[in-house]
Amino acid sequence: MSKKILVVAGDGIGPEIVAEAMKVLDVLQSDGTLELSVENALIGGAAYDAAGDPLPQQTLDAAKASDAVLLGAVGGPQWESLPIAKRPEKGLLGLRAELGLFANLRPAILYPQLADASTLKPEIVSGLDILIVRELTGGIYFGQPRGVETLPSGERRGVNTLVYTESEVERICRVAFDIAMKRGKRVCSVDKANVLECTEMWREVAIRTVADYPEIELTHMYVDNAAMQLVRAPKQFDVMVTTNMFGDILSDCAAMLTGSIGMLPSASLNAAGQGMYEPIHGSAPDIAGRGVANPLATILSVAMMLRYSLDAPAAAERIEAAVSRVLDQGLRTADIMSAGMRQVGSSEMGDAVVAAL
Ligand code: IPM
Ligand code: MG
Repeated sequence: MSKKILVVAGDGIGPEIVAEAMKVLDVLQSDGTLELSVENALIGGAAYDAAGDPLPQQTLDAAKASDAVLLGAVGGPQWESLPIAKRPEKGLLGLRAELGLFANLRPAILYPQLADASTLKPEIVSGLDILIVRELTGGIYFGQPRGVETLPSGERRGVNTLVYTESEVERICRVAFDIAMKRGKRVCSVDKANVLECTEMWREVAIRTVADYPEIELTHMYVDNAAMQLVRAPKQFDVMVTTNMFGDILSDCAAMLTGSIGMLPSASLNAAGQGMYEPIHGSAPDIAGRGVANPLATILSVAMMLRYSLDAPAAAERIEAAVSRVLDQGLRTADIMSAGMRQVGSSEMGDAVVAAL
C-alpha cells in the first residue's frame, strides 16, 4: 500500500540536504522497494516569508494527513528579530505539539571510520552506541506561564515554567524502556532531582514505571553529572531518557562524540506511530547555499523513517549499510574531513550513497 510522506525542507541548508535524501528515496521507489506519495510544504522562515506564518495551516493539515514527515532544518539570522511566535523555530515546535510527537529518539552512533573525526580520543568513543530519548512536547519548552512582563518599577521580568504531569513522564519512560529491551536493557534517567521538584517527581515516576520491566536496569543521574560523564566515559550509557530541555542540550553534546553533528538523525513519534524525521543539526546559515553541508544525517533520518513509520526495516538497513560503505570509500564532507580522505560536497555525497545502495 502506498504511504504518504510530507517533505518540509525549511531554511538554510535544509533544502540542500533534503534534496540528497530525496535521491535515496527516489531509488527505493524506482526499484520497487517502496510505494510513496510525496508532497512538499513550507515551514519555518521560508513559510514566514511566503505566507507570514512559520507553520501555515496548509502545512499542518498536510502533516496530519501523512504517515511521516521529513524535515530539513529551520531558522536563520534574518528572522531572529521577529517576535517569538513568528520565528522559524515556532514552526517546528508547532508541528511537534500539534502532531503530539512526544518521543524524540536521538541515536549517537560512532561509525568506526570516523573515530578520528571526534574531538575525543578514539579509545573513549570507539564503539559508541547511545540512544537519547528526549521528551519533546512538554517541560519548559511548553510550560505556562511564560513570557516577559514589565513590572510597575519599569523593570522587565521573564518567566518560563518547567511542568510535567505523571502521565507525560510515564509514557516517555515506557518508550525508553521498550526500546532498551531491544538493546542493552540499561536506561539512565537524567534529572535535576536535587533541586527541581518537577524532576524529583520525574524520578519517582521512572522508578514506579520500571517495575513493569523487571529486566531493565534503571539508573539515575543529575544532568550536570550526565553532561560530564558523556565526555568523560560515554560508553557507560545505553539508553538515556530525559526532559525536553535536558535532552536538547545532552543530544548536541552526544552528537559531537560521533565526530560531527552532521551525522546524527532523529525520529519524533506520537502515540499512533506517526513520525517526523529530521537531522538533529540546525539550518547552518553560515554554510547554506554552498553545497558543502553533510547530507548523511538527513539520509539516516530517512532510514529511521523507513524503520519506524513505513514498516520497511530492511530498506532502512540498506541505507545505513550504504552510508557505511561510502565512508569506507573515504568520502567525507568538510565537517568530517580528516587526513588522507577525499573531500566532497553535499550532492557528490548523496550520489555516492545512491551508488552504494
Ligand atoms: C533541536 C533544536 C530545536 C529544539 C530548535 C531549533 C527549536 O535545537 O531539535 O534540538 O530546541 O528542540
Ligand atoms: Mg537542539
